[in-house]
Amino acid sequence: EDDDEEFDRPRLAAHGPVRVRVPAKINLHLHVGAARPDGFHELTTVYHAIGLYDEITARRGDTLTLTMEGEGTGQLSLGEDNLVIRAARALAAETGHDAHARLHLKKQIPIAAGLAGGSADAAAALVACDQLWGTGLSRDDLAGIAATLGSDIPFLVLGGTALGTGRGELVSPILTGGHAWHWVLAVAEEGLSTPTVYKTFDELGAQSEAGTPDGLLAALRQKDPDVLAEHLANDLQAAALHLRPELRGVLDAGLDAGALAGLVSGSGPTVVFLAEDARHAALLAADLEATNCCRAVRTAVGPVPGARVL
Ligand code: C5P
Repeated sequence: EDDDEEFDRPRLAAHGPVRVRVPAKINLHLHVGAARPDGFHELTTVYHAIGLYDEITARRGDTLTLTMEGEGTGQLSLGEDNLVIRAARALAAETGHDAHARLHLKKQIPIAAGLAGGSADAAAALVACDQLWGTGLSRDDLAGIAATLGSDIPFLVLGGTALGTGRGELVSPILTGGHAWHWVLAVAEEGLSTPTVYKTFDELGAQSEAGTPDGLLAALRQKDPDVLAEHLANDLQAAALHLRPELRGVLDAGLDAGALAGLVSGSGPTVVFLAEDARHAALLAADLEATNCCRAVRTAVGPVPGARVL
């Protein structure tokens, strides 16, 4: 009888702290189309979540507060404009719940790096507050709220490898059969503003070279890094290189060090290199670090799941 009662009860709010881990993303394919009347560009992209993580801890509180440590501390506003706060408020508004929580963000994903760190944190906040408040929304419901907050956020709720369309907010999973890809990231000294990169893309004539992602999707299924290397594409790369000509040197440094391919991640300025396997990635990272071409070098495996309660 007790068991039945337990079973029938609606989902309970969490009393202890809720910890959520969320990955960074790179774009394996990014085709940028025309600017739309709303200012966003029509995209066809292949998102890929990689094992470089931020973490949000949510605790009960009487108001909504945000503290942080790690990457970007002191540079990021922790007020109402922060995407984490906006995500918590959006979930509260949608569910009729009080927006009461003490949120703490532990950041490893560099900010304004083309890795969707801010979007990742918003996704983590949605998942954390959903659990803390016991709102019990489905992943699809959360993705719907996520879409109102930013183009990349629904993908970071989902994770893995996924096709993104619309302005990037419409995502569908791509099943790649469990193969792990090995990446090396060259993180720049200073971030780039995403709107500025899109604006530069338009000013340079809105030229697209990426075409359809069909070749990339076939390469993912083949699970051969040498084949995948030939199909990575990013229409924002030229704009990022225009704004940061020194990124050309970073790309060359990685290729000289033996990377199978290199490309700017999203709107940049992070440059991502494809390695053969884990050992190759470690060697490549060490070589790249020795060139002093960038602020930091990281290795990461993909795909990994999206925002998840630990
Ligand atoms: O959606 P999100 O807030 O991440 O977008 C940040 C900015 O990037 C937008 O304000 C817009 O300038 C640009 N953007 C775009 N087209 C997209 C996605 C983003 O022009 N599909």
